[in-house]
Amino acid sequence: MKTVAKTIAILVIFGILIGAAWAQFAKPDDAVKYRQSVMFVIAKHFGRLGAMVKGEQPYDQKVFADDTAVIEFLAKLPWEAFLFPGSETGKTTMKSEVLKDPDGFKSMAQQFEAEVAKLSAAAKGGDFNAVKAQFGSVAQSCKGCHRETRK
Ligand code: HEC
Repeated sequence: MKTVAKTIAILVIFGILIGAAWAQFAKPDDAVKYRQSVMFVIAKHFGRLGAMVKGEQPYDQKVFADDTAVIEFLAKLPWEAFLFPGSETGKTTMKSEVLKDPDGFKSMAQQFEAEVAKLSAAAKGGDFNAVKAQFGSVAQSCKGCHRETRK
């Protein structure tokens, strides 16, 4: 009896958590807009980092670290929105295969987050060559995921 009650309690809590994660999207279109918006903002900040890495803008350690912190925060947000049921159609460039392999997608997302965390650590240090190298790894992670997941 105790176990049954426990199981029900766990299921209820789990259900609420899943509900809460998805409640932000009333329809697939909302999930698409959400993830595209987050990607768009990430790309803006990443572009500023790229300009410094390529020498088009002078390297300013504080600006670089601040932009990286924004990306690090944003990188936690959009992944559920990619896996929202029905969001593979409409105004999206996402391949429908993503929804068939959510674990594969999540692992690419986690790898990206890990690379961004390393960039954040490098940005706090004084070694610009380390920053450049890690910027390259993050860019590879963007490209790698896009190759697998975008039409
Ligand atoms: C784990 C996978 C993944 C990673 C990592 C990733 N992206 Fe994306 N990105 C996507 C997918 C999938 C889409 C297509 C979204 C859609 O159209 O619904 C996308 C879309 C975009 C878009 C288009 C947004 C729009 O307005 O339609 C930009 C820009 C972008 N990504 C930039 C980046 C940059 C820059 C990085 C790295 C700093 C990055 N992405 C990392 C999967 C990823």
